[in-house]
Amino acid sequence: FVVTGATSGIGRATTEQLARHGARVIMACRDRDLCVKERRDIVLGTGNKQIYCRQVDLSSYESIRNFVAKLTSGKTKMDQIDGLINNAGLIAKERRLTKEGTELMFGVNHLGTFLLTALLLEPMLNQKSPARIVFVNTETIFRDTNVNWDDLNSEKTTKFDPIMVNKQSKLA
Ligand SMILES: NC(=O)c1ccc[n+]([C@@H]2O[C@H](COP(=O)([O-])OP(=O)(O)OC[C@H]3O[C@@H](n4cnc5c(N)ncnc54)[C@H](OP(=O)(O)O)[C@@H]3O)[C@@H](O)[C@H]2O)c1
Repeated sequence: FVVTGATSGIGRATTEQLARHGARVIMACRDRDLCVKERRDIVLGTGNKQIYCRQVDLSSYESIRNFVAKLTSGKTKMDQIDGLINNAGLIAKERRLTKEGTELMFGVNHLGTFLLTALLLEPMLNQKSPARIVFVNTETIFRDTNVNWDDLNSEKTTKFDPIMVNKQSKLA
């Protein structure tokens, strides 16, 4: 299994439960030191040593491509991926940008997650066993949420609304 944002919150809890069930888990994390610490606690708590930290920053296409290359080729290649848990996400209080110049929440919660999934889709479809892809979302997208097609990058708005921009990214 691959779990993004596995160092805290729902992603960490998911990793721990998968570890308890004997799964081999790649903790896809931005902060490697934090991941090493959390991994150690999960291994000690579950007795499952097959938990691995791999660095990925979902705000960088280059980082995502490097992460996928290591998962799908060379000596760190995984034979199969039974599940991709797209959990990583953030709420930014002010407008910040990804390396590619996209508003950060739209860039991480939607575009980065989309790129990761798209790059892993073919190997997952080509493997012998079926795979499941999970997107951790929020039910608030069903309340007053629309994609602002005229301003996807939150450039034109005079007042940046973190909650609305987050909801838009999750709806996308
Ligand atoms: N908690 C809630 O009440 C709630 C409600 C509705 C939906 N959700 C959704 O549930 C998911 C998890 O939420 P949570 O509350 O567990 O959040 P959290 O505790 O803040 O954890 C978010 C994780 O995402 C990672 N992350 C953030 N930016 C990243 C980036 N650029 N690249 C890679 N990883 C990145 C964080 O890594 P760092 O530690 O490096 O920052 C962290 O591990 C999110 O998708 C969120 O939208 C949560």
